[in-house]
Formats: sequence, C-alpha cells, structure tokens
Amino acid sequence: MKINNLNKVIVPIAGLGTRLLPATKAIPKEMLPVVNKPIIQYVVEEIIEAGFKEIIFITHSSKSSVENHFDQSFELETILKKRVKRRLLKEVKSISNLKISIQTIRQGQALGLGHAILCAKPIVQKEPFAVVLPDMLIKKINEKNDLFELKKEFEKSGKSQILVGRIQKKDVSSYGIVKLQNHLIKSIVEKPSLKKAPSNLFVIGRYIFNNDFFKYLKNNKSSNSGEFELTSAIQSFIKDNNEIYSRKLSGNYYDCGNKLGYLKAIVDYALQDEEHGKEFKKYLKNNYS
Ligand code: G1P
Repeated sequence: MKINNLNKVIVPIAGLGTRLLPATKAIPKEMLPVVNKPIIQYVVEEIIEAGFKEIIFITHSSKSSVENHFDQSFELETILKKRVKRRLLKEVKSISNLKISIQTIRQGQALGLGHAILCAKPIVQKEPFAVVLPDMLIKKINEKNDLFELKKEFEKSGKSQILVGRIQKKDVSSYGIVKLQNHLIKSIVEKPSLKKAPSNLFVIGRYIFNNDFFKYLKNNKSSNSGEFELTSAIQSFIKDNNEIYSRKLSGNYYDCGNKLGYLKAIVDYALQDEEHGKEFKKYLKNNYS
C-alpha cells in the first residue's frame, strides 16, 4: 500500500475559450478536434494512462457536449451495428467504457481558476489531488507520460509537484513562471512582464497538491477582480514553508488555448496518424518545402 495514495484529478472546463473565437462561440474549446478526437479525449486518455481512478470535471452550462462525449450513445451504436461498421462501433464504445469514473460539478459563478478547483472539494474531501488544465496537450516521448512520473514522485515523497518547461522569452507574459532552487519552487508569478519574470520556466498545467492546499485557494480571493487565483494561492502556500517540487517536461506540449499552439498540434498529430500520416507528410513536402 502506497503512503500517499493519489486517485483524483480535477479538470476545470468552465472557461469560455475566448482566444479561439469564433470557433468556440457554440462549441466548447475542449471539443475542438485534433485530427479525429476532441482535445478533451486526449487529456482524459493521458490521465488514465497516468493511473488515476477518478476525474472531476468542473463545468459550465455551455459544456454539456463534453459530458455527452463520454456517455454511451445508444442511437449511434445501434446505427453502427446495423450498418456493420465494426471498427467505428468499437471505437465509439471504447469512449464510454473508459477505465475511470467521471463526475461533474457546475461552477455556478465565474470566479476564476482557483474557485473552479475549490468547487471539487466536496468530492476530493481529505485526499490529495491533481489538477490538469485541458488546454494543454502533452504528447509523450517516453514510455510513461509526464503525469505518471509526477504522480509516482508524489506517492513516494508526499510533496506537491508541478510540471514545468522552458519557453521563449517572448512568451513568458502568457504563463505562470517559476523560480527554482534545484527542483524546489522558490516562487511563482502569473503572466509577468519579461522584465519581472524570474526565469523562462513556465507552468504547463499539470499540478499535484496535498490536501492542505485547499485552504490557500480559499484564502486567495483577489481584492481587485473578486476572483480566486490559482497562482497566488501557490505563492502563499510556498511562503508558508510548504514545499512544492518541479519536474521538467519530457514530452512535447501544445497550448491549444491559442491559435498557433492549436495549429501545431493538428500538424504534429496528423503526421503521426496511423491511417493518413505518411500521405500527409508527402503532401506537406510536395507543397510547402
Ligand atoms: C493557466 C495558469 C498559468 C499556466 C497556464 C498553462 O493560465 O494560470 O499559470 O501557465 O494555465 O496553460 P491560462 O491558460 O488559464 O491563462
């Protein structure tokens, strides 16, 4: 029996995706496709592969298609069965037969990312928890994905963990930026100017916290915006001598919350598509090199 059993992942999906408008006017950004799967499906598969048992989606009234995607679709399955589309039927069935339980909680008020995570407390109760931000796709290059490694480290040490990566200086003002001492996170600042950024190491949207962190989320309501902020809660947690360790990303990341990151994801995932990847590569070579 592991000392620090970690089973639950909070996935906040209540955000409105304004950076991808007009595509996200009537479709949740998490449902935009990368090749033939919606973004959220890659994220859920990453979570399952990392060995978690429960996902808690924090949702908004406009996001019911995300829940529907992981439900059984009797109508579709009946039609595919009738038309003897065996491969498609198997694929559609596998989405609703995932080896993980999914629960949803509505974030009734738009009070920020910290508040979204707090909404999961009645389900998480006293356990440690992971947070996965679904805008960010991470394609693994090793046998085990980065989230698996974060989880493994937490289960060994009981210390909170955050996945970080390097970015170009011009992009520091778009992310949470950390200052490290060896692997320990000494400070974190949200979307700093290049001048104020303590490094070019950014937070990729994969976090593991011990349960005490909920207290800090609750106490971090911004007096300006009235929102509960995740990054300032992390900074208060650190200031109170709670240790959070960083782990450097090994896979490739794609920030699908912005147009350029989303485009890169489509091209890279398409090039690795079993069915059409080779031909797509030929097409790009013939037309764009
Ligand atoms: C959020 C976090 C930020 C992190 C980023 C990763 O920002 O607040 O610290 O670096 O996700 O995607 P958002 O994308 O919500 O602006």
